Amino acid sequence: MKTTASFMKMKQRKDKITMMTAYDAPAARLVEQSGMDMILVGDSLGMVVLGYDSTVPVTIDDMVLHTKAARRGAQNTFIVTDMPFLTYHASLQDTFAHAKRLLQEGGASAVKLEGAGPVIETVAKLTEAGVPVMGHLGLTPQSVGVLGGYRVQGKDPESARKLLADAKALEEAGAFAIVVECVPEQVGEMLSEKCNIPIIGIGAGVDTDGQVLVYHDILGYGDVHVPKFVKSYANVSPIIEQALKLYVQEVKEQKFPAKEHSFTMSEEALSGLYG
Ligand code: KIV
Ligand code: NA
Repeated sequence: MKTTASFMKMKQRKDKITMMTAYDAPAARLVEQSGMDMILVGDSLGMVVLGYDSTVPVTIDDMVLHTKAARRGAQNTFIVTDMPFLTYHASLQDTFAHAKRLLQEGGASAVKLEGAGPVIETVAKLTEAGVPVMGHLGLTPQSVGVLGGYRVQGKDPESARKLLADAKALEEAGAFAIVVECVPEQVGEMLSEKCNIPIIGIGAGVDTDGQVLVYHDILGYGDVHVPKFVKSYANVSPIIEQALKLYVQEVKEQKFPAKEHSFTMSEEALSGLYG
C-alpha cells in the first residue's frame, strides 16, 4: 500500500497523484483495480448517495459505516476519510475520539479536515498523536452557509495570498497533503510550486500535484448537479434507467423469469405434490 511518504516522492518526481471518491465496497474495488493512488471517502456522500442537498447533515456514524464498506472493497489502497461538519471543532477530546473511530473502526489510513484558522492547531495535535491529516482549502463545502454558495475562491490577489499562507500553515502543522477546490488554475499552480507537500486539485487546473473527483460525477451516475470542473468519462444513468424499465416490462409481460432462470422439481416429486 502507498503511504504518505509515497505521495511526497510522487510530488518530487512530478508523478501526478490520482484520487477518486468511493463510498461502498463495489465502487472501492473498481477504483482500486483502476490503479488509483488514493481513495477518498468524502462527505460528498451526503449529496451523491444519501440525498441531502449539502454535506452539512453528514454524521460521524455515516463516515464510519461508509469507510468500513470502502475498506472491505479496497484492502490495498490508502483511504482518506472526511471528518464531517462540526466533528473537529468542539474539543480536542471529541476530535480525537472521532478520528480514532475513522481509523480503528472504519479502517481509514488518514483523515481530511476543511479550512484553516483554528483548524491548523487541530491538524498539529492530530499529527502529533500519529493521525495522518489531509487539509482542504479553497471552496470548503462544509462552510457553504458562510461562503454564501459554491463559488470559485482565491480570484483576487489578497485571497490567493491568504490561501498560500493557509497552505503553508497546514504544511507546518504536519498535514501530508492538501486538497484545493475550485480556484483559478494559476492559484493551483502557485500553491503546488510553493508547498513541499502534495496539492491535490479539484477545479484547480492541470498544474497541481494530483487530481481528485467524485465517482458518481465522472460516471454520470445519479441526479446531482455536476460542476464545471468535472469531466464526464461515462454516462451510466441512462443505462440503468433502460435496464430497470425493461425489467418492469418483462415482469408485467411474463417474459421474466424464463426457463433458464427457474428451478424444476423431478417428475416423481411432482406427482407426490399433487397426488
Ligand atoms: O467530499 C468530497 O468528495 C471531497 C472532494 C470533492 C475533495 O471533499
Ligand atoms: Na468533502
